[in-house]
Amino acid sequence: MPSADPVLRPQQPGDLPAVLDLTRRAFGAEGEVVAGLVETLATTPIYGTRFVVACEGERIIGHVGLTDGWIDAVERLVPVPVLSPLSVDPGHQGSGLGRLLVERALADAEAAGAPAVILEGDPAYYGRLGFEPAEARGVLRPSTAIPDRAFQWVRLSAYQPWMRGRFVYPDVFWRHDAVGLRDWRRQGSTGLEVSTVTLGARDVPALVAFYAALLGLEAPHVEAEDDWVALRETGGRSLAVQHEPEQEPATWPARTGQQHMQLHLEIRVDDLEAGIAHALSCGATPADHQPQDDVRVMLDPEGHPFCLWVETE
Ligand SMILES: CC(C)(COP(=O)(O)OP(=O)(O)OC[C@H]1O[C@@H](n2cnc3c(N)ncnc32)[C@H](O)[C@@H]1OP(=O)(O)O)[C@@H](O)C(=O)NCCC(=O)NCCS
Repeated sequence: MPSADPVLRPQQPGDLPAVLDLTRRAFGAEGEVVAGLVETLATTPIYGTRFVVACEGERIIGHVGLTDGWIDAVERLVPVPVLSPLSVDPGHQGSGLGRLLVERALADAEAAGAPAVILEGDPAYYGRLGFEPAEARGVLRPSTAIPDRAFQWVRLSAYQPWMRGRFVYPDVFWRHDAVGLRDWRRQGSTGLEVSTVTLGARDVPALVAFYAALLGLEAPHVEAEDDWVALRETGGRSLAVQHEPEQEPATWPARTGQQHMQLHLEIRVDDLEAGIAHALSCGATPADHQPQDDVRVMLDPEGHPFCLWVETE
């Protein structure tokens, strides 16, 4: 616990100069950008930012804000507050005030019925406060300038597994160029990324049609002579089918001397039984060996194993 038992309260209009000063001092070289963001959020009611300050006597020594962004889910836009920024006076850091402010923000969001709180930040710090990578649950970061591990969230009581899709920040974060780390994009990125997973098939049109039906993707036009056809998925990645006249179905589980599976697709479903029924209707067959309750191993028409899996708590 912080030594001086600071009082946490909603920010008042008269607090702004002290809050901006705190923000500049906490964020150092990035202070001007973050203070500009705070000023716009605090003076533009449309963003609806909920700021909380921590006071030691009259002095503001900590500050946190929640501003709604949205998960662009299939069903609808889901408002989810973004925790940003979080500032603790340099003279008071390391005494638990950051934790206190994050816990207050989470409690406020829970009380308001938000399904989660999202942020970008150091996982070494926020991981200890219960945050976990959001992309692992299908919530995609709004910019590749945010390292994937830094894009984190805490799910609250109102969370439901269908709440996934691209996360959209309100324009204010972009206006202030306060999204992600430009240096990380320059230095941390190798410039290499997996764009496509390609499956071999004796019958390209049939396997393309199978995956288009299975994944609900627009079926591309396939000419008889096409030997590589891509199906576009969300998120910019694609699945492709390539003509392999010698394609052999994999033996699964693997057996020495037989055709091994060398990679496979993991396909998330909201409801395992419904997903299995859908895959069967598209032409998949269940594998004989089923090692897990929350996963069903299926075979596509060319004999490639793939998994249907459902999230469990
Ligand atoms: C990050 C910040 C809010 C933490 O506030 P705080 O009051 O010092 O945090 P707490 O006292 O709750 O936690 C302190 C612990 O977190 C650790 N910590 C702080 N920043 C960390 C980071 N980036 N990575 C890993 N650990 C970190 C401290 O070393 C300390 O560890 P200890 O408990 O083992 O001694 C504060 O350092 C700050 O205002 N920094 C500048 C602004 C900033 O970076 N904000 C967050 C950006 S989203």
